[in-house]
Amino acid sequence: MKESVCLFPGSFDPVTNGHMDVIRRAAKIFDRVIVGVLHNPDKQGLFSVEQRVAMLKKACADIPQAEVIAYGGLLADLTREKNIRVVIRGVRGTGDLESETAMARINGQLDPGLETLLLPASPGCGEISASMVRQLAQFGADLKPYVPRAVLRDIRKMYAANRKTGEE
Ligand code: PNS
Repeated sequence: MKESVCLFPGSFDPVTNGHMDVIRRAAKIFDRVIVGVLHNPDKQGLFSVEQRVAMLKKACADIPQAEVIAYGGLLADLTREKNIRVVIRGVRGTGDLESETAMARINGQLDPGLETLLLPASPGCGEISASMVRQLAQFGADLKPYVPRAVLRDIRKMYAANRKTGEE
């Protein structure tokens, strides 16, 4: 039987428990979940693409269906290149629903036949965002409820290093 595959694209700057909720649920539906760190070469994130990939790999270590990749182009080019027919995205509320619907339509125009499935966030995940995690980390708040255990130390280290070099 043909293997079922989906792409879960995102910035993952950094990975959060909200992302992990989507990955774990997608892994119950699909044989393979390709977690794609999609990055704009002109746009600098907080964590480098390599750091984001490394953190995702740690966080997904116990999910055999998950595979982490990085891609610096259009989502629709990636899906065409890899012959991926399904994209999965999490939706936290009506704001996400609007932007995700627009993105799904554009991606479907760029790669006809590509389907986007939207998963509503699980209870306890709807309030988590990477930008909120970055802000909490900056002020030294406890990140345990928001990010996978496996990457807590990496995030703290990054902020400690930034404080030392006075970059923040
Ligand atoms: O985690 P994010 O920031 O919500 O993820 C957004 C992402 C990376 C999925 C989106 O910006 C994207 O697909 N970028 C790649 C460029 C692209 O294809 N843009 C057109 C989609 S409308």
